Amino acid sequence: MIFSSLYGVDLGTDTIKLRDKTGQHFLDSKNMIAIRRGRVLAIGSDAWEMYERNPMDVEVSCPMSGGVIASATNMELVLSYTLKKFTTFAKKSSGLCLAVPTNVTPVQQRAFFNVLRDSRQTSRVRLIDKGIADAVSIGIPVQEGKGHMIVNVGADTTEISVICGGRVIIGQTLKIGGKSLDADIVTMVRRKFNLNIGMKTAETLKNNLAFMINGPRLEQKVFGIHTLSGLPKSDMIPSLAVSVSIVESVDRMIEQVRAVYGRVPPQVAGDIAEEGIFLTGGTSMILNLPIYMQKELGLPIYHITDPRNSTIRGILEIINHKELKALTRAPSLYEY
Ligand SMILES: Nc1ncnc2c1ncn2[C@@H]1O[C@H](COP(=O)(O)OP(=O)(O)OP(=O)(O)O)[C@@H](O)[C@H]1O
Ligand SMILES: [Mg+2]
Repeated sequence: MIFSSLYGVDLGTDTIKLRDKTGQHFLDSKNMIAIRRGRVLAIGSDAWEMYERNPMDVEVSCPMSGGVIASATNMELVLSYTLKKFTTFAKKSSGLCLAVPTNVTPVQQRAFFNVLRDSRQTSRVRLIDKGIADAVSIGIPVQEGKGHMIVNVGADTTEISVICGGRVIIGQTLKIGGKSLDADIVTMVRRKFNLNIGMKTAETLKNNLAFMINGPRLEQKVFGIHTLSGLPKSDMIPSLAVSVSIVESVDRMIEQVRAVYGRVPPQVAGDIAEEGIFLTGGTSMILNLPIYMQKELGLPIYHITDPRNSTIRGILEIINHKELKALTRAPSLYEY
């Protein structure tokens, strides 16, 4: 395979990020599809626009869940559409380099491979662990023997990776991410304000108001359906209520990071204690989350710049540097 002509793909639950080798051609598209009676109505951002505004007979869904493909058919439709859109303005390429969760099973790996192959008629697919791509994005010399720890808090998952010698030696994918926090906010608003709001509204509350430890006392007006009257109603939701509602999920995530750290071999644990943990992913943008994690874990936490794009930035680095090719692998199609 001509390694130099690969595209980079970060198949996120929330956003599919595509880049050509130069990084000049890029596409960020919502990982969503709208279907009415078996017919595709919209894909990507257009489907996202319809989400929670759709008529009863239109189903708007995300083909991925918990970091893996939940509906292969829908994923294929979304991906072939997105790739086609991308290749209209990017140079033709001979293959794809795709980031996957570390402990994805061979069956799930096969699902990724099949979807890519079917949607693009290519067998040239290389896989890379998400954690490795994140580490490469900030210039960590991953192939050396020192240990590193990366936590990527995305939309539907938190990927915890301990890296040593160019490999993920411990990887765990938690089903906690931005969407879990959005669900916490929906529940809180229903209980405290008797208001039914959608996940989209909850997401804006989270992104605009949520903080850990100290944050500004702000509020935001939201519209919903009053749980008692069943009529549309608006209310002002304070940042403190939003922030308190997500603490339990954030603490569960931190608890898992602590548990993974506890399983790390002593020498590697020493490296991590010295270097600290790298934090990335869109949901890491919650105000003061890195400081909160630092306090809870008693380890230095470094927040990666532009955290939503760290995985795709790492993939680009890898496809542009031959010496990093060993970090990728062909999908293991015969393991089961
Ligand atoms: N300012 C912000 N504060 C908190 N969360 C944010 C902010 N901006 C975006 N997010 C959240 O980040 C998430 C998207 O992050 P990201 O792009 O890393 O996810 P993804 O890669 O698509 O998902 P995954 O890695 O879980 O498959 C969404 O849940 C979004 O609400
Ligand atoms: Mg991601």
